[in-house]
Amino acid sequence: MNKTLRKAVIAGNWKMNKTPSEAKELLTQIAPLVKDAQCEVVACVPYVDLAVAVEACKGTNIKIGAENAHWEEKGAFTGEISTGMLKEAGVEYVVLGHSERRQYFGETDETVNKRTKAVLKAGLKAIVCVGELLWERECGITEEVVARQIKLDLFDVSAEELKNVIIAYEPVWAIGTGKTATAYQAEEVCSFIRAVLAKLYGKEAADGVTIQYGGSMNDANAAELLSKEDVDGGLIGGASLVAEKFAAIVAAANA
Ligand code: PGA
Repeated sequence: MNKTLRKAVIAGNWKMNKTPSEAKELLTQIAPLVKDAQCEVVACVPYVDLAVAVEACKGTNIKIGAENAHWEEKGAFTGEISTGMLKEAGVEYVVLGHSERRQYFGETDETVNKRTKAVLKAGLKAIVCVGELLWERECGITEEVVARQIKLDLFDVSAEELKNVIIAYEPVWAIGTGKTATAYQAEEVCSFIRAVLAKLYGKEAADGVTIQYGGSMNDANAAELLSKEDVDGGLIGGASLVAEKFAAIVAAANA
């Protein structure tokens, strides 16, 4: 992390876990444990948990995020949620282009781009996820894959809007597998992502972007990952569902 240039952001990605009452319980456990955090603390929760989560986090330093958003303001899009709905619910962050959406729900860079632009236009913060498959890493095309995703997902996003973008580098082979990228591997790709951003937006803008690592980040490996210059935080799945583990990752970001 380079805290002089950018904000560290530790975000939980709850995925399809926790009912509203369970969400309230977990956030009530997390809040006192992270109250002195200097980094930004975010919980991205299922849509039906949003109202309860926002209420439970009132007066705390925990910000609430959603796990996706549609690009249209309203209309015939059964099952989708608009940015206006999220804003009114008190959401501040939205995860976009998570690999599970790309893998299981037909998400493409084109739709990630549309969603990202809508989220930014609404004044919300976008956590845009990129990352290579194991096969792509083995073929030696990690940089090509990630550069392509960054360029397409951020197409037409202005330098001003970039200030509300967080990039989450999540190697797909590390998500939910217990196989964390080494700190060296994480840094290698996160610094590459910053170089791609610098080509698109200039060095100063790129230096200000928070780049998270995600993929089996936990209380045991967070400190080492976060010690790297270009790893500015984490997007945490499994470990964000256990208050003590999530709090320990937040503590590692504060160290
Ligand atoms: P994980 O998930 O921490 O359970 O690997 C990370 C993510 O998918 O954001």
